[in-house]
Amino acid sequence: MKALVINGPNLNMLGIREPDIYGSQNYSELEHICLHAGQEYGFEAVEVFQSNHEGALVDKIQEAYGVFDGIVINPAAYTHTSVAILDALKAVGLPAVEVHISDVDARESFRQVSYAGMACFERVSGEGLAGYRHALALLADRLK
Ligand code: DQA
Repeated sequence: MKALVINGPNLNMLGIREPDIYGSQNYSELEHICLHAGQEYGFEAVEVFQSNHEGALVDKIQEAYGVFDGIVINPAAYTHTSVAILDALKAVGLPAVEVHISDVDARESFRQVSYAGMACFERVSGEGLAGYRHALALLADRLK
């Protein structure tokens, strides 16, 4: 089992960015949580990727085809706008879990639309960085 964890714009600013919403842990800690959870749930490899660019996220999803068995994705702001990311997830057809650090449903109404979520079998929201561990557990269950 190989998993790809994809993070969208501004998630590289974790720890600095709105700590009241996203917490004080930084992006390196997010990577560490994912790699550790990957070992815990029996993945032979977990790659953690981040980009601020929509096209780079689409490219990465396409490149996962035939290489990874599943995807955990936090498209960040592109969650609420990107049909291209939705289409890329549908194109590769890999099982995917949507994750959000904050509880998006309890925030502004524009955050309550998720395009990427339409191609995901599960959503984890509002669990902080621990949500990535939860998402990898859900993906492992699905793949086993
Ligand atoms: C986010 C929620 C999004 O609405 C926001 O644009 C983000 C992060 C989250 O992880 O809570 O950048 O995806």
